[in-house]
Order: sequence, then structure tokens, then C-alpha cells
Amino acid sequence: MAGKFITFEGGDGAGKSTQIRRLARRLGERGIHVVETREPGGTPIAESIRKVLLSGMVKSLGPEAEAMLFAAARADHVDRLIRPALAAGDWVLCDRFFDSTRVYQGAVGGVDARELDALERVAVGRNRPDLTFVLDVPAEVGLRRVRARLAESGGEPDRFESDEIALHEGRRQAFLDIAARQPERCVVVDAARSEDAVAGDVWRIVAMRLLQQAA
Ligand code: TYD
Repeated sequence: MAGKFITFEGGDGAGKSTQIRRLARRLGERGIHVVETREPGGTPIAESIRKVLLSGMVKSLGPEAEAMLFAAARADHVDRLIRPALAAGDWVLCDRFFDSTRVYQGAVGGVDARELDALERVAVGRNRPDLTFVLDVPAEVGLRRVRARLAESGGEPDRFESDEIALHEGRRQAFLDIAARQPERCVVVDAARSEDAVAGDVWRIVAMRLLQQAA
């Protein structure tokens, strides 16, 4: 039987990677083989494209060119990692996917939705997520978490993290809009709460929506 494909979306500092790790552990305890991955990235070529995008090297080309690069990375990621893993019966947990393009390059970046439809057809095809979590935090809370993380690691904010707060708040709203339009796929989780509370909700939703079908 084919595996399940779950994506995690939300603004910077929403806690996606922590929640993916926790869900992967829980699924693993059930004997489910899980592949954890991220976008942009997940394959050697896509990780190279990630470096170009997050360094800001191509920011001056504008959001349309950035959208094409995200799509190129995604096409390779889907072809070489996601589709084969699902076909083998693995569950794939992915940190960001096409909703991030819809939000960052589309709703907020201004790239036309029809252009993004075309890129999505090429890069994703029928390999759409079975379930998408939108981890929702006020921009201020997310950015505070990002700053704390950077202070610990001594790193610098990436090309998108360093955008202004109004832009972050716009992205938050855009994720909520997607979730409202596609309730059969998306679930919004209030991620301003404790890690445990969020993980509890995520698990309940996965159990309700996917584990019963998989059993
Ligand atoms: P990443 O470090 O994965 O995000 P996070 O801060 O959530 O850990 O960085 C990815 C950045 O790229 C993030 O700021 C969102 C942005 N992005 C897009 O603009 N479009 C996309 O299609 C994707 C996948 C990410």
C-alpha cells in the first residue's frame, strides 16, 4: 500500500521541524517507516538550489525567478525522493511544500496564481499531500523564536527571515486563507502554545485522518 504524504507549513519560527521530529518518532513507534525531509532541499540538487535561494544571491531576480527555482528544486525532490518513498509504502513528512510558494512568492510576492499553477503541475503532478498542517503563530512570536535560535547558534537570518514584520503577518494570513479554502487537506494548529500541546493536536489529527484509513 502507498504511504502517506504529510506537509508542515507556516511562518518562520512556527516550530515545524520540531513537530516533524516528534511525529516521526511516534509513527516509528507504530512500526511505520518514515522519511523526514524539507523544502527547498531533500536531494543533493535541491539542496544546492536551496543555498542559492536562501543566501539571497538571486533575490534581485525577483519572486518569479525565485518561484521557478523553488519549483526546479521541488521537481527533483518529488522525482527522486518523495514519489519513490510513497510508492515503497513509507510515510513522508516534509517541512514546507508548494503552499510555501503560494504564500511567499504568490500571495505576498505577487507572482500570478496561474503561473504558479503551471509550475505546480510540472513539479508536483499528482503527488499532492494527503494532509497539510498549518502551524499558526503571530509573526511577532515566530520572529522572537527565530532570533532566540540564531542567538544560540550565532547564525544570521536568511533571505526570508530578515523581511519586515508586516510581510511576515501577510504570510500568516495567506497560509490561513489556503487552509480555509482547502479544509479537506489542511488543518490549522495554534502553534503559539507549548511544544507538547501542539504535538498532541498533531498526533490526534494524524490518528483520526490517516491512521484509521491505514489500519
Ligand atoms: P527554512 O530554513 O526551511 O525555513 P524555516 O525558517 O521555516 O525553518 O527556509 C526556507 C525559507 O524559504 C523560508 O523562509 C520560506 C522560504 N520558501 C519560499 O519562499 N518558497 C518556497 O516554496 C519554500 C519551500 C520556502
